[in-house]
Amino acid sequence: MKKIMIVFGTRPEAIKMCPLVRELSRYEEFRVICCVTGQHRQMLDQVLEAFRVRVDYDLNIMQARQTLFDVTCRVLTGMEEVLEKERPDLVLVHGDTTTTFAAALAAFYLQIPVGHVEAGLRTYNLSAPFPEEFNRQGVGIVARYHFAPTQTARDNLLREGKNAEGVFVTGNTVIDALKTTVREEYAHPVLDWAADSRLILLTAHRRENLGAPLFRIFEGIRRTLDEVPDIKIVYPIHMNPVVRDTASQVFAGCDRLRLIKPLDVLDFHNFMSRAYMILTDSGGIQEEAPALGKPVLVLRDTTERPEGVAAGTLKLVGTDSDTIHREFLKLLTDPEAYHSMSVAVNPYGDGTACRQIAEILLRELRAQR
Ligand code: UD1
Ligand code: UDP
Repeated sequence: MKKIMIVFGTRPEAIKMCPLVRELSRYEEFRVICCVTGQHRQMLDQVLEAFRVRVDYDLNIMQARQTLFDVTCRVLTGMEEVLEKERPDLVLVHGDTTTTFAAALAAFYLQIPVGHVEAGLRTYNLSAPFPEEFNRQGVGIVARYHFAPTQTARDNLLREGKNAEGVFVTGNTVIDALKTTVREEYAHPVLDWAADSRLILLTAHRRENLGAPLFRIFEGIRRTLDEVPDIKIVYPIHMNPVVRDTASQVFAGCDRLRLIKPLDVLDFHNFMSRAYMILTDSGGIQEEAPALGKPVLVLRDTTERPEGVAAGTLKLVGTDSDTIHREFLKLLTDPEAYHSMSVAVNPYGDGTACRQIAEILLRELRAQR
């Protein structure tokens, strides 16, 4: 039996790794150990509860207004202890957070093989997204197995000289998650509040957008909201206090915009599937929205998810207030522009990524014996 430790710490990692924990746990050839860092607390616990995943280790590192130094140091030292104790055959990490990087580094220091789920996403700009571009490239250096969601991601890895035998295209596990959450019958009081209008979903949290860019983003959105009477905006706001401070300042007095607590993933996916369109700087939402046929204005200058842009569902609008106002208004008032972006496409796989990863690991770890 092979011991596989799955490590994650934030909301998006949890949404994309819980289906994998569940899938790998079905195999008698694997003993799955689930270790969370607690880089996020409430937002992580929401996901663990939604997917009914029980954890074996919880480093519980979150601090209010934590810095990258805090997170990196606390994950690295916490993981040393857990890895020394368990000595797994493989550590699986996901994506590009600081948990991901520090956990992979800890495994590397102990010479434990690393598998990287959602590998190969790149902007090749270390400032955007910051620090995620560094995190994922760093993990790519130490990983033995790279589970790329798309051919584009695989091509990035091969161009960087990764061993082709360790790179697999599996689709993104977020599609696996999405298949289990969206329901036809679904109700929520906030949806009732928005029922007389077009529902717009908003999320924003990226570190490089904190401060002036976030102000500009919110200003552009507020101007549009003031000009278009038949929309209501729902903003399930990230728990980062810096984001909260800016949002409450700019959106004070907007009665057609509701700032609400982060939604459970099941709720959020159902809100998305009922939304007219989405404004976001999130990574995961750029993968989910195309599958649901929802136009997204991406509040960033660059994206590591070019597949959704090529498919026409995503449009990069940056953080300039005037540009956001113009592009948002256009989607609300120009039916042709709207319809051209609302075609359901799914470049991120058929929802079997977890099973594919499990089968690959079965083969690869057996061969390691
Ligand atoms: C992190 C990831 C980012 C990912 C995002 C997903 C890094 C450097 N950043 O950014 O890649 O896109 O998660 O949401 O790894 N907080 C709470 N409760 C929670 C979660 C956060 O109170 O459940 C507050 C805390 O004050 C915390 C702050 O939010 O200090 C920031 O959290 P942190 O994980 O450092 O950064 P994120 O912006 O969430
Ligand atoms: N999400 C959620 N509740 C919310 C907002 C988002 O469950 O209130 C989900 C969303 O469906 C997506 C993920 O969280 O799967 C994205 O997380 P986030 O934007 O925090 O991080 P990123 O993807 O940018 O790393």
